[in-house]
Amino acid sequence: GKRLSEQSGIPWHAVIAHRGDSFDAPESTRPAYLLARALGADYLELDLQRTKDGQLVAFHDDTLKRTTNVEEVFPERADDPISSFTLAELKQLDAGSWFNERYPARARSSYKGLKILTLDEVRSIAEGGDNHPGLYIETKVPKQFPGIEADLKAYLETHHWMGDQALQAPKNFDQKSHVGVAFTPGRVVLQTFEKSSLVNLQQQMPEVPKILLLWLGDGYIPADESIRKGEDESAADFYAREQVASQQAYADWLDFAKSNGAVGVGPSAVQSEHDGKFSSQFSYMDLAKRWMVDMSHEKGLLVHLYTVDQPQDFRTYSNRGVDGFFTNHTSALLQFYGRP
Ligand code: G3P
Ligand code: CA
Repeated sequence: GKRLSEQSGIPWHAVIAHRGDSFDAPESTRPAYLLARALGADYLELDLQRTKDGQLVAFHDDTLKRTTNVEEVFPERADDPISSFTLAELKQLDAGSWFNERYPARARSSYKGLKILTLDEVRSIAEGGDNHPGLYIETKVPKQFPGIEADLKAYLETHHWMGDQALQAPKNFDQKSHVGVAFTPGRVVLQTFEKSSLVNLQQQMPEVPKILLLWLGDGYIPADESIRKGEDESAADFYAREQVASQQAYADWLDFAKSNGAVGVGPSAVQSEHDGKFSSQFSYMDLAKRWMVDMSHEKGLLVHLYTVDQPQDFRTYSNRGVDGFFTNHTSALLQFYGRP
C-alpha cells in the first residue's frame, strides 16, 4: 500500500491519534491533542458534531454522560444529544474528571475541569508547536446534522486547510509560531461510517482524501437467512457458503467506497486486550483478515485499521499489510514503527 499512500498524500504507516493521545489524557481534550502532537502523530483524529447554535465540536458519543458531568450540570438533559446543547452550555461541562476516576494510574489534577473542544481549537493545536499533524475528521452520526459536510468544507476553506491556497505556505507564514504552515494534500483526511455522508463529502470536497469506515451490520456478513446454517447442512458446507457471501459483501463494500471517491477503508480490528475504555461492542470483529487487506489493495484502496493499542496487534495486522492505525496510544504505535 505504500504507493497508494503516496498517491493520496497520506503518510504510509500512518499514526492516527484516536481522539488524541487518549491513553494518557481524557479523550478529545486539549492535553490529549497536545500530547499526540508533541509525540509526533501524523494525524489528530476527531469526531465531528454540531451544537444547537451551529458550532462544530470534537466529541465522540451521542450523549454527554460517559465523559462529562452533564448529570450534575444539566440533570434533566443528560440523555439529550449534543445537537440540543449550545456551545456555551457544553463549555460549562467538565470533560476531564471522568478520566481520573476511571484511570487512577494516569490521573492528573490538571485534567479536572477540561473543556469540550471546538474544531477550531483542535485545528489551532494542529497548527501550533514544532510538529504539524494533520486532521483526520469523522462525520459522526451525520444524519443528525444535515449539511454538516458543507459546513466543514466552508470551515476548512476559510482556514486554508483546503482549496488553492492550501497547497502553498501563505505569505505571512510565521516560522516561529508555525501559523500559516503549508497544507499539503493529505494533510486533512475525511472519514465516515455512513455511506450517505461519504457521498456528501465527495460532492463537497472531491479533492480531499476520504476513508469509508467499515463495521458489521452494514453489509459485511449480510444479516439474511441465506447465510444461516441449515439444520441439515454440514458445518463445512455452511462455512464455505458463508465465505462466498462474505467475500461478495466485502467486495461490494469496497466497490461502493471506491466508486464514491474514497482512497481507502477503515475496518475494525480485533484487539487482543481491551480494558473496556471505549465502546467496544464491535471489537470482536476482524474486518481486516488477510484476504480483506489483499482485496482492498487489489482494488486500489488503503487500509487504516481501528482502534489498535497493543504491540502484538500492531504486529499481526502489519504483517497482513495494513497501511496505518487509529490508536489511543500514540507512543506505542510510534515505537512499533520505529519512529523516535
Ligand atoms: O474513526 C475511526 C474510529 O474512531 C471509529 O470508531 O467509534 O471510535 O469513532 P469510533
Ligand atoms: Ca472516530
